[in-house]
Amino acid sequence: MTEAFTLAHFSDVHLPSTVRAAWPFWNAKRLLGYANWMRKRRRVHVRSVADRLVADAKALRPDHIAITGDLINLGLPGEYEAALGWLRTVGAPRDVTVVPGNHDIYSSLHGHAGIGRWAQYMGDEDDTLAFPFVRRVGPLALVGLNSAVETPPFYAGGKLGRHQLEIASELLDALGQEGVIRVVLIHHPPLPDLAPTRRALSDAAHLSHLLERGNAELVLYGHNHQPRLDWLHSRGKAVPIIGAASASAAMAHGEEPPANYNLFTFFKNEKGLRIRHIVRGIDGPESAVRKISETVLKAPA
Ligand SMILES: [Fe+2]
Ligand SMILES: [Fe+2]
Repeated sequence: MTEAFTLAHFSDVHLPSTVRAAWPFWNAKRLLGYANWMRKRRRVHVRSVADRLVADAKALRPDHIAITGDLINLGLPGEYEAALGWLRTVGAPRDVTVVPGNHDIYSSLHGHAGIGRWAQYMGDEDDTLAFPFVRRVGPLALVGLNSAVETPPFYAGGKLGRHQLEIASELLDALGQEGVIRVVLIHHPPLPDLAPTRRALSDAAHLSHLLERGNAELVLYGHNHQPRLDWLHSRGKAVPIIGAASASAAMAHGEEPPANYNLFTFFKNEKGLRIRHIVRGIDGPESAVRKISETVLKAPA
């Protein structure tokens, strides 16, 4: 018997910044980030676009929604609160899973909880904020990694660290024994060479070695704001590694396309696992959301 389960995947929403914040927050990182937002990104990332894509996805009744980070821009207290309000419009914590991006762990928080405000959407059943976490939804085990670390101005790189990699390895092994469908969520591109050094995951080589052991059925990431599919070949199988566009881009921006999102349907039976991948998005600020592509994920021979 085939069981089908649908997962929508959004990334890099970059909700408009609430810039009111006490003066200690305004360090060089945030001032430069704010200048960049005002100069370029403000016109690209539009909340109503993200809302339109989310409404489109919800009309298709996904069983769960995953969001791979960069919900906000400058890591200011008001942004965490606003993003929590937005998350509540996307769905209840049991229906939505979030991992943080570099813009969500951005700079000193002066005691504010930061991503802790979103803990219900990130953690396990106890809402404790710890990475990696595992959330079980239908036949899936979502393994949430935190690749975000505070960085100096002009850097947007990430790091998992040895501790998180070791725990992730053990968790993925154990989940594999159970036979569940393992979907890894991470903000930064998980393979080496998918981002320039100052924007890259510094331990991507470690993570890709871990995944090369055939330790996941699907890996989803964001950060580059570009849709992309790579196959990581491992013992006897290949793991699809899929990057998402920004879900709020009203228009193309450099190499980044207008907003789109991924919709995966998992079919599992005695013959194995089949994953249908649909990309839906817009062509411009006013255009309707349409299907951009539909494929069944299949490793190249
Ligand atoms: Fe981003
Ligand atoms: Fe990012």
